[in-house]
Amino acid sequence: MRVIETIADMKAFIKMNKEKGKSIGLVPTMGALHEGHLTLMRRARESCDVVVATIFVNPTQFGPGEDFQSYPRDLSGDSEKAASAGVDVLFHPLAAEMYPPGYATFINVRGITEKLCGISRPGHFQGVATIVTKLLNIIQPDRAFFGQKDAQQVLVIRRMVQDLNLDAAIEMVPIVRESDGLAQSSRNVYLCPEERNAALVLFRSLKKAEQAVSNGERSIGRLKDLVKKEIAAERLASIDYVEMYGYPDLQPLEELRGQVLLALAVRIGKTRLIDNMILEDSPACC
Ligand code: PAF
Repeated sequence: MRVIETIADMKAFIKMNKEKGKSIGLVPTMGALHEGHLTLMRRARESCDVVVATIFVNPTQFGPGEDFQSYPRDLSGDSEKAASAGVDVLFHPLAAEMYPPGYATFINVRGITEKLCGISRPGHFQGVATIVTKLLNIIQPDRAFFGQKDAQQVLVIRRMVQDLNLDAAIEMVPIVRESDGLAQSSRNVYLCPEERNAALVLFRSLKKAEQAVSNGERSIGRLKDLVKKEIAAERLASIDYVEMYGYPDLQPLEELRGQVLLALAVRIGKTRLIDNMILEDSPACC
């Protein structure tokens, strides 16, 4: 696996491969790689000739007081993991090159960024949309792979790609969980053992809602209350949001109809975790 650190070298590598007719798969990450990222990389490996993964802790998507400085960084461990997942090139640019002095251009996707994490993390999606646009421009992938754990992020990127007539197909890969259900996240390393155990409440509450739906519950209000009650019973947890919106348009609903995104953001101690499930009002069987 090759590590590329400059935009010029990255573009030259892509140009050479495009000239050879190779398809390019992109897996953008902020590093601290875990099984969720490696699944995206393996998925890219299966469907593209050349796999590029990026590691860039993007300063513009962190708000004041968030964990930009302390975000876990482990380039040598990440390189080994990415190579083992079949990545051909790791693009690891410097912030000074991605955002040089005088940088002034940002991408703002309206509407779907104004709810869920967009409320708790003002400016976050502007930072995400901006860096993803830059990576799509530099790497020109045929396909780019993102995890469902950040389902709102995937919807924002799909909207942006469509609106800006970008060429990449945006693939959403299901959430990868630990054996006990905790969604894989780079931020899980912040949890002490007691918090790690408390964090299981996220998946447990999602499963409760899923069970209620399969028992016939259709009221969005009652489903959200069920989830909130489950989380409230966990001493170390405090709710940032529990929301349900139509999927993929993120429109408000009163009754479960079609696909619905049940999304949670919960603080466990000082660590803010997100998780979600796409629930479905399956039609009554014939
Ligand atoms: O999901 C992430 O890790 C980041 O938001 C992304 C897409 C790599 C942009 O920095």
